[in-house]
Amino acid sequence: MNSVLVTGGAGYIGSHACKALRNAGYVPVTYDNLVTGWQEAVKFGPFEHGDLSDRARLDAVFKRYEPVAVMHFAALSQVGESMADPGRYWRNNVGGSLTLIEAAAAAGCLDIVFSSTCATYGDQDNIVLDEESPQYPINAYGASKRAVENILTDFETAHGLRHVIFRYFNVAGADPMGEVGEFHQPETHLVPLMLDAIDGKRDELTIFGTDYDTPDGTCIRDYVHVCDLVDAHVLGLKWLLDGRGSRVFNLGTGTGFSVRDVLAHAREITNLEVPHRDGPRRPGDCTKLVSGSTRAQAELGWSPHRSTLRDMITDAWRWHQTGHYSR
Ligand code: UFG
Repeated sequence: MNSVLVTGGAGYIGSHACKALRNAGYVPVTYDNLVTGWQEAVKFGPFEHGDLSDRARLDAVFKRYEPVAVMHFAALSQVGESMADPGRYWRNNVGGSLTLIEAAAAAGCLDIVFSSTCATYGDQDNIVLDEESPQYPINAYGASKRAVENILTDFETAHGLRHVIFRYFNVAGADPMGEVGEFHQPETHLVPLMLDAIDGKRDELTIFGTDYDTPDGTCIRDYVHVCDLVDAHVLGLKWLLDGRGSRVFNLGTGTGFSVRDVLAHAREITNLEVPHRDGPRRPGDCTKLVSGSTRAQAELGWSPHRSTLRDMITDAWRWHQTGHYSR
């Protein structure tokens, strides 16, 4: 069976990708330093503990498994933290990715699926974004992901390394079977924080900014179910292995929801109040990030099945009540 090297396979999206890869007949080999990931989340293939900056370790892993491709998820991903500590983001996300990409090219593993972000687009006056929209990231996280996209383009020209880049919108939900789910420490994402507030694990949720230029004054995001997202990755992998060449795809649903919309859905689904208060804006937040996925649907044949707020919050709530990891 063909193996795929999955960096960040112990993290939220990476662990769901490993399950999707295993179900598609691949062996997902997780490479993770466990700084933000969880060894318990590695359930669907072998685990190799290592850091992206460790070239010798990466070389050994490429040699051992001879993967047909790389899925590169491993990264720091908090917008707010990236504004406070940009050096960490540039070193880890850009430096680490460069080491990985060099190791892949040296090993002759020339197909890579890269996890990028809509944060590379920045704040763009309420337009619906597509893959050709200009990229003006307004935070160090988005800038670091944009830089890796550039590295991949240069490595294609120089070394023939082909890439599929996925720019994600806001990922939410969990495996409906409850085998893996979202669990960060510390947690910064809206959906899990909201669920913590609902069941009393934290006092309340703070809404970051209520004076944005949106109908209810709170930020608008395009939420996509993690299972739909990783299905797209398997299609992207097949796209590369079929020799269809490098391509960028946005993964969103085309529908935006405000923070208050998300809270209202959670109240309806759980039948519980969401304790919350209005707070100031969080540095680095864009007003609105929404994208269609016309290209992914037309070219990859991707069709998101579970990306309604109802399904995402229902699956996240189930996981929240039953699943968590410990180190
Ligand atoms: N929010 C709150 N209160 C909180 C947490 C979040 O009001 O306690 C708001 C944020 O201000 C934002 C929305 O909820 O408007 C979503 O915030 P998240 O932190 O869940 O997600 P982000 O939009 O900041 O970031 C996520 C990923 C990034 C990705 C980005 C693109 O974490 O990796 O989506 O939008 F780049």
